[in-house]
Amino acid sequence: MSRKKIALVGGGQIGGILALICAQKELGDVVVIDIPEAEGMVKGKALDIMQARPHDGYDSDLSGSGDFSDLKDADVVAITAGVPRKPGMTREDLLATNLNIISNVAENVKKFAPEAFVIVVSNPLDAIVYAFHKVSGFPKNRVVGMAGALDNARFRTFIAMETGMSVQDVSCIVMGGHGPTMVPLIRTATVGGVPLTDILSRKEIDAIVTRVQEAGTELVKLYGKGSAFFSPAAAITEMIEAYLKDKKRVIPSAAFCEGEYGIDGYFIGVPAVIGAGGVERILEVELTEQESNLLGSTLEKVKATVAETGL
Ligand code: LAC
Repeated sequence: MSRKKIALVGGGQIGGILALICAQKELGDVVVIDIPEAEGMVKGKALDIMQARPHDGYDSDLSGSGDFSDLKDADVVAITAGVPRKPGMTREDLLATNLNIISNVAENVKKFAPEAFVIVVSNPLDAIVYAFHKVSGFPKNRVVGMAGALDNARFRTFIAMETGMSVQDVSCIVMGGHGPTMVPLIRTATVGGVPLTDILSRKEIDAIVTRVQEAGTELVKLYGKGSAFFSPAAAITEMIEAYLKDKKRVIPSAAFCEGEYGIDGYFIGVPAVIGAGGVERILEVELTEQESNLLGSTLEKVKATVAETGL
């Protein structure tokens, strides 16, 4: 059996770590593609990781390229290409630049890897994944945005930190757009099956929710000249693995809704079943009135950004 091909478009901070993790997990052979001017950099990262392989003993091959034709026949394409935020910027401030980039990437993915499962990561996420879908014409099950996996991991992390209990036992759902309006569903948060509301006070939980909503910004401030990369790379890997291994994982993802939650024609964070069919199903949680209202507000925010794309 030949190995799967994973193409990473964008060889920056996330792309580099993502290449390393995918190789370490032997999910497939990895090609990291960037603009021609950055070809040396991505070739360097690939070769550097190749030389790390003997320590851990994995056999995935890595290569770097400045040419989109190396997307050819990729099974999975993960797109992180674009500019990240700097302190003081919102994700929406990146729209014009990243929209141009994603349109070009979408044309090339359509041309060279028409059967791939595509995971879009560039910000503002919900609008950029929408743009990829529009430009590429890919079916909705094969295009997804990575944001919920990360937002969910952040919710789990802060719950584990606050309770002092294992992150492995924390479960929860985060819905909505990737930004401060996202909706961490408190009622779904459990530690080892015990409702979080039985473990922490309302005040403590509210502080966690705010920190989750601002988690990306907290890291942008700390880093000073870029955004998170270790945790996004881990989150993308989880989605790649779910697809390639047909795991049917339930991962909050920016999926294309056609009627689910009363949302029609937009990508937004919802619990999605990811397996060999890509986004195989969207799970519909019965929301309380308050949760519905919060989802409505985050949807308005996503719609406004999508409108700005002009697509
Ligand atoms: C974040 C960026 C990647 O949330 O959107 O860290």
